[in-house]
Amino acid sequence: MNLIQLPRSVQFLYEEHLARLEFEALGCHDIDRVGDRWDQMTATVNGTRSALIDRSAYLGTLDGTPSVYEQLTKPKYQGGRFNRTRSVNQYLTHWIYPYQGKFHPQMVRGLFNILGVKRGHVVAEPFLGSGTAAVEASLLGARVVGVDLSPLCVMLARVKTTAWSAVDDIRPRVHKLLAKAALTLDDATATKRDGQAVSDFLTIARMVTASDVARRGRDEVASLRKNLEAMLESVEAYAAAVREFNLRPGAVDVAVGDCRDLQAAGIRKNSVDAIVTSPPYSIALDYVKNDEHALAQLDVEIPHLRNVMTGVRGRGAAQKLQLYNDDMQVMFQQVARVLKPGGRAAFVIGDATVDGEEYTTTEVMASWAVTAGLRLERTIPKIVFGLYSVMKDEDILVFRKE
Ligand SMILES: C[S@@+](CC[C@H](N)C(=O)[O-])C[C@H]1O[C@@H](n2cnc3c(N)ncnc32)[C@H](O)[C@@H]1O
Repeated sequence: MNLIQLPRSVQFLYEEHLARLEFEALGCHDIDRVGDRWDQMTATVNGTRSALIDRSAYLGTLDGTPSVYEQLTKPKYQGGRFNRTRSVNQYLTHWIYPYQGKFHPQMVRGLFNILGVKRGHVVAEPFLGSGTAAVEASLLGARVVGVDLSPLCVMLARVKTTAWSAVDDIRPRVHKLLAKAALTLDDATATKRDGQAVSDFLTIARMVTASDVARRGRDEVASLRKNLEAMLESVEAYAAAVREFNLRPGAVDVAVGDCRDLQAAGIRKNSVDAIVTSPPYSIALDYVKNDEHALAQLDVEIPHLRNVMTGVRGRGAAQKLQLYNDDMQVMFQQVARVLKPGGRAAFVIGDATVDGEEYTTTEVMASWAVTAGLRLERTIPKIVFGLYSVMKDEDILVFRKE
């Protein structure tokens, strides 16, 4: 028997449930709580020790040895080296840009393990967002293909997942900027001599700054300095983690694209092993409005984006909902098309409130996925922390393509 200590951040019942499912998927047997210690378990680990230590999201320590994830997420103030924030959900590059409706990385990593994702597998993310699933899948050695209609999301996801490999180019450029006595926002614009990675890094630093100024009323230059420093620190930490734990991150290929047409985005039929994703919460959040300040700076044609984006397009609640429902049905058909037979997809879906009225969406969504050719394997109910005005319950729906 081996002793498993859960991370301290695991506090909810659904997380214990995910932890058990993950440990089983990684090869543990006979998992039991230790007496009345809800945060400790005994299990038979037989031969799966390294898979647990290297890949698990829910293992704190195994017989006293910390998991890689525990070390990656440990905040700096507690002596951690890869998380400059105080939150275990914001480690490495996860914190970059305050995107609304971000996934919890731990849950996403746990789900990838539950779905059986292995090094070299292909993972797709049809609603890329800020790239949380892309980071976790790549860290597990999977190849990632992803789309989002928002160019901001695509650039953000690219920076979060790949800037580490260009840190030797990014570092001197950032140091040079920080050495300027009278730094301006324009100074942090790419020049012809900058490669793509440096250019994307600088653009995202300006976007985080634009958000700090617009949402928090921060001073522009002070915020730019802080963001350049903090982003560089996180990208350095990513590169250091890759070396220290021999992570060999999977390649990440993300592009502006529409999940209603994954073929156009270059994602072929029967090519994907697994998906972990969260679609827009019905019509409850306006993703275009949330990021308007940043999208405008990227020269995005905002009215066009409004006309195509799922959950945003349409006029008035009734039409918006109808279009949202249409889009989701097409999306499930696309997902069923690109998954390999036997491939699995987990959707994190909320019961949204629109204009004070509850729309129970998870059951309807599950029926659309089934119509598209997926089998519902499991439903895991969870709660939402924050966003209380919009929703409070979510379900994780796990499907398998037969
Ligand atoms: C709930 S968010 C995803 C958040 C993500 N899980 C994260 O951790 O950041 C949904 C995303 O879907 C994108 N989106 C909306 N309609 C889309 C479509 N038709 N095709 C692709 N992406 C779309 C939005 O831009 C938004 O980024």
